[in-house]
Amino acid sequence: MTKYTVAVLGATGLVGQKIMEILEERNFPVKTLKPLASSRTAGETVMFQGKPYIVEEAKPESFEGVDIVLASAGAGVSEKLVPEAVKRGAVVVDNTSHFRLHEDVPLVVAGVNDEALKNHQGIIANPNCSTMQLMPVFKKLHEIGGLQRVIVSTYQSASGAGKEAMDELREVTKEVIASDFKTRGKAEVFQHPLAFNLIPHIDKFMEDGYTKEEFKVVAESRKILGLPNLRITATAVRVPVFVSHSESVTIDFERPVSPEQAVAALKTVPEVTVFERPEDYPTPQQAEGTDPVLVGRIRRDTSNPETGLNMWVVADNLRIGAALNAVKLAEALDRMGLVRKTGKVAEAV
Ligand SMILES: NC(=O)c1ccc[n+]([C@@H]2O[C@H](COP(=O)([O-])OP(=O)(O)OC[C@H]3O[C@@H](n4cnc5c(N)ncnc54)[C@H](OP(=O)(O)O)[C@@H]3O)[C@@H](O)[C@H]2O)c1
Repeated sequence: MTKYTVAVLGATGLVGQKIMEILEERNFPVKTLKPLASSRTAGETVMFQGKPYIVEEAKPESFEGVDIVLASAGAGVSEKLVPEAVKRGAVVVDNTSHFRLHEDVPLVVAGVNDEALKNHQGIIANPNCSTMQLMPVFKKLHEIGGLQRVIVSTYQSASGAGKEAMDELREVTKEVIASDFKTRGKAEVFQHPLAFNLIPHIDKFMEDGYTKEEFKVVAESRKILGLPNLRITATAVRVPVFVSHSESVTIDFERPVSPEQAVAALKTVPEVTVFERPEDYPTPQQAEGTDPVLVGRIRRDTSNPETGLNMWVVADNLRIGAALNAVKLAEALDRMGLVRKTGKVAEAV
């Protein structure tokens, strides 16, 4: 079995930490681990396979001799450092938004469009967390009924915005309770205090009034499913939940699909667990720490009873939405013999 030198770029962050946990859990063939982060945490240690590893500051030279980079240090860092890693012969699975819509970069969800890996030029992009969990569900439902139009409303946890965001929710929640609800708490990471609140604003606003997070669901779903004209729209909302994103989904199909047919079809998808009885709906707390995408409340859309369904889709955003997919893609690259394939993208971007 080939063993690899693996760099985790963003090793001190929520996704980076989860990547290391999952590499260990799934026994990925790591020869050497290189945890990389910013100068702020260089010199600190992270644990992997029961041993401490010293975090290094990420620089272009850090990627010499590295086979696989699993990157989650933010879009700006990926823009600068991912091409440097590719130039040095590494293959990069990037969790940030930077390369996702680049035409030379495959955007891949394991189990959905693995074949796209074959075209990689050194960089593979992981989709946004709210897009990721929908993909195994949409792929199967498209097969049985044809997706005609999709409406998504997200209920996204604080961890989707990183470790500082989780800390802010924790502190603000304690502060509000301690003041017996007389204060509302600070909003430094989020636009408003998140405790006991909802914020329909994730990432920046665009000219058309949508947020970039909403745009990502639309553009990334089209690219992954290979449906460039899919009619899909989204509203993305941050909720005071620590881990797991939940999504309410309405689908209009091209052909009639009953709830029973949808349940039967989704039961055949290995990445999905279906909750059949209405009262057994999944919650974000149930999803935390688990690997399947949980789908419940599959029911007819009474405003479109022949060809419309509503459903509730929940998943751990740190695992399914980021780290698990990154590690599964590294496994697929290994299986398909695609790890060292020096690319042109580094020059092109
Ligand atoms: N959280 C999610 O659910 C999720 C899902 C999908 C994709 N993503 C994407 O993954 C990325 C990271 O998310 P996260 O939640 O893990 O964020 P996070 O908890 O804030 O962690 C950020 C990581 O990036 C490192 N970093 C920041 N600036 C750096 C620099 N200049 N050079 C090198 N490393 C630097 C940080 O290192 P220090 O500790 O040294 O600052 C830390 O390790 C983001 O692009 C995010 O959009 C996140």
